[in-house]
Amino acid sequence: MADEPLVLGIETSCDETGVGIVRGTTLLADAIASSVDEHARFGGVVPEVASRAHLEAMVPTIERALKEAGVSARDLDGIAVTAGPGLAGALLVGVSAAKSYAYALGKPLYGVNHLASHICVDQLEHGPLPEPTMALLVSGGHSSLLLAPDITADVRPMGATIDDAAGEAFDKIARVLQLGFPGGPVIDRLAREGDPSAITFPRGLTGPRDAPYDFSFSGLKTSVARWIEAKRNAGEEVPVRDVAASFQEAVVDVLTRKAVRACKDEGVDHLMIGGGVAANSRLRALAQERCERAGIRLRVPRPGLCTDNGAMVAALGAEMVARNRPASDWELSADSSLPVTEPHVPGQSPAHHHDHDHVHEVAKDNLYS
Ligand code: KG4
Ligand code: ZN
Repeated sequence: MADEPLVLGIETSCDETGVGIVRGTTLLADAIASSVDEHARFGGVVPEVASRAHLEAMVPTIERALKEAGVSARDLDGIAVTAGPGLAGALLVGVSAAKSYAYALGKPLYGVNHLASHICVDQLEHGPLPEPTMALLVSGGHSSLLLAPDITADVRPMGATIDDAAGEAFDKIARVLQLGFPGGPVIDRLAREGDPSAITFPRGLTGPRDAPYDFSFSGLKTSVARWIEAKRNAGEEVPVRDVAASFQEAVVDVLTRKAVRACKDEGVDHLMIGGGVAANSRLRALAQERCERAGIRLRVPRPGLCTDNGAMVAALGAEMVARNRPASDWELSADSSLPVTEPHVPGQSPAHHHDHDHVHEVAKDNLYS
């Protein structure tokens, strides 16, 4: 539909410079530049390196996205950007770029939440999200169960990790196994050739008295590291594929078990899984199996939309425009610890997404005051 909002989204919360363009829930472009290779030798993302890479990649990536979508920047109805959570310096590059483009073009600016974007992106693949949606959000920095009655305005935490994020556990175990960074994709690949029941690793917080929707992966991580160390000390070869498969099974067993339980307890018949770890093939398969058995419809975006990208930011921005949510003010700033309960950072002024003159006025006021 031509009257659906055309929105460009910018993502720079970690090491991917992502620029996506959507029309409503239709994906038009998804351009990405990653600095992951520059971080690999450090075994993790180096914030200063990430910021510098975003700065260099920003303008070319925006131009690539516009070209790919076959649209002109003038036709945009809004510019969305990840305002947080994430690395402060990295976020700042995206926010500054979004502000500059929005101001120069006279378009409304929408500072949105990275975590809500990971959920909203599924609209590009499977159409409008049911309301409410139960979402299992599993990334390098976060692992949460969220109940979202309205992804633009009402996201409620059911539970979260009390220590490591799921992706962080994958990255740490990969480091112990000397498999490089990031660890998720390589463990996923090796696990396919291993036996998931070879070693029984602990399932954190699954006792009858434990918090039903919280996660803990730090005990698992220690247990896997100790098991590997014992093998090495005994001069035995570490069965890397079996360790990868058994570790991965422990993670996805707990994630899917708790997510299905949350759906049942809340009477929600849809489960959405998002974030980088949602790219995991075993997580997707086990979630499908368990959801089917419980009569729950599973929605998981394709792997490329699970890891950080600009399309997810554009998807949430377009939803903000479609629902007439207020745009952000020009003093929008990056918030490295933006809470998951704030899907976007609205300004004080009322919705004005079709009122470009008004946007200009607000911008001028702020610039000259
Ligand atoms: O969402 P994301 O791209 O960035 C953050 O917002 O954190 O997630 C990155 C995380 C990393 O920890 C990475 O190892 C993990 O997602 N990951 C995976 C897979 N692909 C990426 N974990 C398990 N299996 C995968 N296939
Ligand atoms: Zn992410």
